[in-house]
Amino acid sequence: MTKILAIPGSLRSGSSSNQVLKAALSMAPPNVSIEIYDGVGTLPHFNDESNAPEAIVAFRKKIKGADAVLICTPEYAFGVPGSLKNAIDWTVGSGEFVNKPVALVTASSQGEKGHAALLLILTAISARIVPDATLLISFVRAKLDASGNISDPKVVADIKRVLLALSIEVRN
Ligand SMILES: Cc1cc2nc3c(=O)[nH]c(=O)nc-3n(C[C@H](O)[C@H](O)[C@H](O)COP(=O)(O)O)c2cc1C
Repeated sequence: MTKILAIPGSLRSGSSSNQVLKAALSMAPPNVSIEIYDGVGTLPHFNDESNAPEAIVAFRKKIKGADAVLICTPEYAFGVPGSLKNAIDWTVGSGEFVNKPVALVTASSQGEKGHAALLLILTAISARIVPDATLLISFVRAKLDASGNISDPKVVADIKRVLLALSIEVRN
């Protein structure tokens, strides 16, 4: 069984990013399981003077134990949401992302700049960005229905493609 850890960049449970991730749960290819990490908002601010607090040790363990990571995030102020960047900063020294297959889905109003910024950050931490597993969903709210289901068939197909590419990368 391939284990994917999904990390949302929005702390709001009903956010588009969380809705996309919830929808992705049912689109996983056979023998692929997706766990949504819901602790980003509880992680302390990064401080490289202190030993890693318990929540950070647990977060790092989750990444380490996953075969791949799927990040789904909005763009905030043309950049990466601070809480997501904070979570990533905690892994820079410990290296959990090094060579880890990573998919990036940016689900935002626009999103281009945040998407590019996060790809650069993932490069900085030596994550293995899977080319077929990057997806920018602009105008995301127009592509979800009132119940939070993805109403745009192209987005459904794109997310399936992302999950498939990520799982193939793990097997290679
Ligand atoms: C603080 C803040 C800053 C934002 N900045 C941007 C931005 O720079 N670019 C963008 O495309 N959307 C921006 N947005 C809108 C989000 O992308 C928006 O939340 C998006 O449509 C996803 O919806 P969600 O809130 O349901 O996740 C911002 C939203 C907030 C709350």
